[in-house]
Amino acid sequence: MAAIIDGKKISGQIKDELKEKVSALKKEGKTGALAVIQVGSDPASSVYVRNKKNACAYIGIESLAYELPEETSEKELLGLIEELNEKEEVRGILVQLPLPPHIDEGKVILAIRPEKDVDGFHPQSVGSMVIGEKGFVSCTPAGVIQLLKRSGVEIEGKRCVVVGRSNIVGKPMALLMLRENATVTIAHSRTKNLPELCRQADILIVAVGKPQMIGTEYVREGAVVIDVGIHRNADNKLCGDVKFDEVEKIASAITPVPGGVGPMTIAMLMANCVQSIEEG
Ligand code: GUN
Repeated sequence: MAAIIDGKKISGQIKDELKEKVSALKKEGKTGALAVIQVGSDPASSVYVRNKKNACAYIGIESLAYELPEETSEKELLGLIEELNEKEEVRGILVQLPLPPHIDEGKVILAIRPEKDVDGFHPQSVGSMVIGEKGFVSCTPAGVIQLLKRSGVEIEGKRCVVVGRSNIVGKPMALLMLRENATVTIAHSRTKNLPELCRQADILIVAVGKPQMIGTEYVREGAVVIDVGIHRNADNKLCGDVKFDEVEKIASAITPVPGGVGPMTIAMLMANCVQSIEEG
């Protein structure tokens, strides 16, 4: 049976470390706020936004909430971002995605000043990560690296297969594993013989967005399996991209859903905010 990689516990440790750091920074007179913008009232987005605000309160940084109506124009949103870019005390700007279809996400991401891009989505942040320079790294992949390191999983020299190639998870995930000296393959929906390829992985990271797609035929015995997916199944229960019940029998370690990667995303967002306050 696999060891369970406990994201709730590890994210809690990270938030406690950050809380101490925030308190030390306050003594040096360094403070700052995270601005969180939500356009419309998508229920999943509202949950994420609430969790982000709660995490700010826990570690001791201020959050400024902007809850804008669905019909907000792109121009109005860009205007607000420009205002927040200019505000000294705002050290991070986060626009919750997805945005309503009449707003161009790319334009919005580009409008956030890279020094305040705590999501790590700006092309400059992505470019800095690719060449290993300073900048914000997107939170979910950064969280996976922390999960592996803090669970004692060695990355260097290991074969890693990342299933999924999104800009937010798959691509940055592969680059971060490469930075940690893994040998990395990115697989996707057009990959041939996907189960066979995945079975070569020492570390299998799944971010396909398909409920319970990955069963034991994709997993080598003893592999470490990281499940980035989060879905609701027919019984309205949370599940991931991996068939947890069968894969845990052959993996050496595995993340559960919920309580695996999910809580790490917010912890890493907080880490980015603290880094921004530190540098500000
Ligand atoms: N929507 C889903 N995940 C994320 C995230 O990490 N950041 C933002 N801004 N929106 C999201």
